[in-house]
Amino acid sequence: MANAQSFTCPTDLPSWKALAAHAQQLKTRHIKDLFVADDARFTKFSLELPGLLLDYSKNLLTDETKSALLALAKESDVEGWRAKMFAGEHINATEDRAVMHVALRDKSANPIMIDGLDVRPAINAELERMRKLTHKVRSGEWLGYTGKTITDVVSIGIGGSNLGPLMVTEGLNAYSDKRLKMHYVSNVDGVQIAEVLAELNPETVLFVISSKTFTTQETMTNAKTAEQWFMVVAKSHAAIAKHFVAVSTNRKLVTAFGIAEENIFDMWDWVGGRFSLWSAIGLPIALSLGYEVFDELLQGAYEMDQHFLNAPLDKNAPVMMALVGIWNSNFLGYPAQALLPYDQCLNRFPAYMQQAEMESNGKSVNWAGEKLSYRSAPLIWGEVGINGQHAFYQMLHQGTDIIPADFIGSVESNINVPSHHDILMANFFAQSQALMQGIDADQVRRELTTKGMPAARIEEIVEHKVHRGNRPTNTLLLPRVDAKTLGSLIALYEHKIFVQGIIWRIHSFDQWGVELGKVLAAGIQPELAPENAVNPKHDASTRHLIEFYKKAKQL
Ligand code: F6P
Repeated sequence: MANAQSFTCPTDLPSWKALAAHAQQLKTRHIKDLFVADDARFTKFSLELPGLLLDYSKNLLTDETKSALLALAKESDVEGWRAKMFAGEHINATEDRAVMHVALRDKSANPIMIDGLDVRPAINAELERMRKLTHKVRSGEWLGYTGKTITDVVSIGIGGSNLGPLMVTEGLNAYSDKRLKMHYVSNVDGVQIAEVLAELNPETVLFVISSKTFTTQETMTNAKTAEQWFMVVAKSHAAIAKHFVAVSTNRKLVTAFGIAEENIFDMWDWVGGRFSLWSAIGLPIALSLGYEVFDELLQGAYEMDQHFLNAPLDKNAPVMMALVGIWNSNFLGYPAQALLPYDQCLNRFPAYMQQAEMESNGKSVNWAGEKLSYRSAPLIWGEVGINGQHAFYQMLHQGTDIIPADFIGSVESNINVPSHHDILMANFFAQSQALMQGIDADQVRRELTTKGMPAARIEEIVEHKVHRGNRPTNTLLLPRVDAKTLGSLIALYEHKIFVQGIIWRIHSFDQWGVELGKVLAAGIQPELAPENAVNPKHDASTRHLIEFYKKAKQL
């Protein structure tokens, strides 16, 4: 297995030690003073790529920090591991698999070798099938069992089989011709599927059941409910072929479910669920927006892949974002990372990235299974920034914890409503400036004096109005959120996650941490039936909670 070779713990690397010592000095500095001291700061700490500006100058770092971080990337052999990933080596060692979501959007004509096989023909064949299905459904050629055209698509899936398509279709809604109405069902809480089905006609709906494994309980339960709802009206198993398609690696289980062979779209075990929107898992995207738009998304991601592969480390946006994140978390000690899009089209981006980052890098042992002595993924969270301003920004500006944030905005809005976008963007620029600069007591006093406040009152409130600033942010500016720029943005974060995982020496591409809860739930589920006893071996809290639930249910 690829990672089982000997490796140096990052804390033993000379660069890590240098960074740790350097951080002690820099912690006494203020970012605003670093701007005063260096006119070239923006130029030095920003990168302009086609379709993306990354400004990381509003972080507490200097030339020396940058050099040491780049040394950390070198000493961690990020370039070597990057080559291994792109070569299809089994870098997902605990599952003994390649990690090749990049293959799904590879626009070159070169063979893509995984386990001795060129997978390009299989990828292209699936893409072609997606294109054809999309065309048939969108053009009205695909008819339901009573001869009517499809009006609604229900995508059933959870996690990586839901968040990507949902985020992208919602985000690019401005590019949709609204021919098909999209619905997403992920929660096993029946409320969600009941509400979706209530407004649909079985004759005009197409269900897309997306599950890499086709064993995920939430998805299987929702799929069965959808099938039962459909059969009540359709009453014929033959009709299912006109209303159900599936995306999975598990053809056997999909067929057993009753979905026609020709309606099964393949994916592969070398595509992680949270990196799978580039595969047929992206079918709802193509159905909603048209295959051409889906293809643009792939193109954008491919261009970022090429940048990640070829740009020198110091000009490499995913690498620099990964390094700045590591600096903030491991050396400056900041415990979380906020994602703050200032574009409604990126509404779901934080939730999507939460899975991508936290499921990938939320690990606490290294490649050798030894407990980490340093933090891996910080808490990733966020919300559309302008809403956050009126909710949690108070804590970002004045809370006891410093939370680094990524501000993501666009030059042009997808829908131009006069005057709105500049108001939005004025806030975008102002907030990261405020977080960085802050406002000190003397400034507060001056402002309040100018407003005519009595001196005694000023002294009562001055400390409450002080913003200490020095709160780090990255700013990402896109020309607009279209399929190509969104594809690039997602790939940028994917590669950032990869680089951080390599430096932390953790397995980014498994997710064993989600298993235990699933196993326990499977044990508890039968206990919830009135005729069954609650397992006396449960801890007292769990036992009492279950008993309370069962008793309350019977009242
Ligand atoms: O339980 C977590 C997880 O395995 C995710 O990694 C995955 O994206 C999600 O469940 C859904 O899995 P599947 O696509 O196999 O239904």
